[in-house]
Amino acid sequence: MASFDILVLPGDGIGPEVTKEGVRTLELIGQQYEHVFRLKHDTVGGDCIDKFGVAIREQTLQDARDFDAILFGAVGGPKWDDPTAPVRPEQGLLALRSELQLWANLRPVKAIPALLDSSSIKQEILEGTDIMVIRELTSGAYFGEPKERRNENNLRAAVDTIYYREDEVERVARLGFKLAQQRRNKLTNVDKANVLESSRLWREIVHEVQKEFPEVEYEDVLVDAMTMHLIKRPSDFDVVIAGNMFGDIITDEASMLIGSMGMLASASLSTPGEVGTAFGMYEPIHGSAPDIAGKDIANPLAMILCTAMMLRHSCGLEEEAVAIEEAVSQVIEDGLRTADLTSESNALNTIEIADEVLSRLGN
Ligand code: IPM
Ligand code: MN
Repeated sequence: MASFDILVLPGDGIGPEVTKEGVRTLELIGQQYEHVFRLKHDTVGGDCIDKFGVAIREQTLQDARDFDAILFGAVGGPKWDDPTAPVRPEQGLLALRSELQLWANLRPVKAIPALLDSSSIKQEILEGTDIMVIRELTSGAYFGEPKERRNENNLRAAVDTIYYREDEVERVARLGFKLAQQRRNKLTNVDKANVLESSRLWREIVHEVQKEFPEVEYEDVLVDAMTMHLIKRPSDFDVVIAGNMFGDIITDEASMLIGSMGMLASASLSTPGEVGTAFGMYEPIHGSAPDIAGKDIANPLAMILCTAMMLRHSCGLEEEAVAIEEAVSQVIEDGLRTADLTSESNALNTIEIADEVLSRLGN
């Protein structure tokens, strides 16, 4: 019997609805495999702004370090979307990433055979797609300074900075090559080295690391071209590494290869090399989807798959992780769908599809 301390941050929009189903999944795994998951719920994002005036409390950031992992729902929504507002829900998420140094964001994008027809892309192009995107998560355009509004001769101006330091690039590159070795031995580096100085440094460092991995097939792809290649030849890619902003953009695009963002989980790790005991935050990539919040129609499968990633990377429970992934695959293969995955009227709601997963767990 093992025990784990998990911080649960449901957040805004559909975050709380899907997080509940993730928690139910953990509880069932706990019962079946006799593990103890001690869960502590806390507030983040717009919900935290409403309650405390900040997107995350200092105490939450302090406490977070004492947990084995964090389960994160989503943040943001129209209520807090005023572009001139001093506090924004997203600051809570960015503070967690930065303060906890969650630099390695793993975003697996694997085509599910029974779901190929939910994608807007032709099935024969999608077949065999299995990509692991590693997005750098604690530097680049998201955190570079200066980052500010300016007044220039009474004209409003603003500046963001894309900053990278060699050690920040090197660890992403090394993780990428190592993961490629465990997968199909291919690495694609995404940057904009034809224009950006930060990308030229990025590429230079990746090439230096590449020398240690001569057997890994390697290519550099400019980010604009990558958006095209992702929908033209998705099954060619294995591990893809990208900086913070490019990784953000290409993973939204890549999610459409699967048919819905509602299927994609992610792990944000500070110690990705410590397989099984890595500290990390687990978050579906779909965001808060305020338009469907509170209706009980959100797809909880990404969140349920997040719990599998958590068990794998932070708890060392590979068997349990696989059991969850298989139960989700079974549900999809059995033709069960939430509204995001079907145009037919017989879609299951959030709780119903989660029930289907849970009833298949352990069978
Ligand atoms: C993501 C999201 C976040 C990001 C937002 C909510 C700040 O889009 O996790 O991909 O841009 O990183
Ligand atoms: Mn995003």
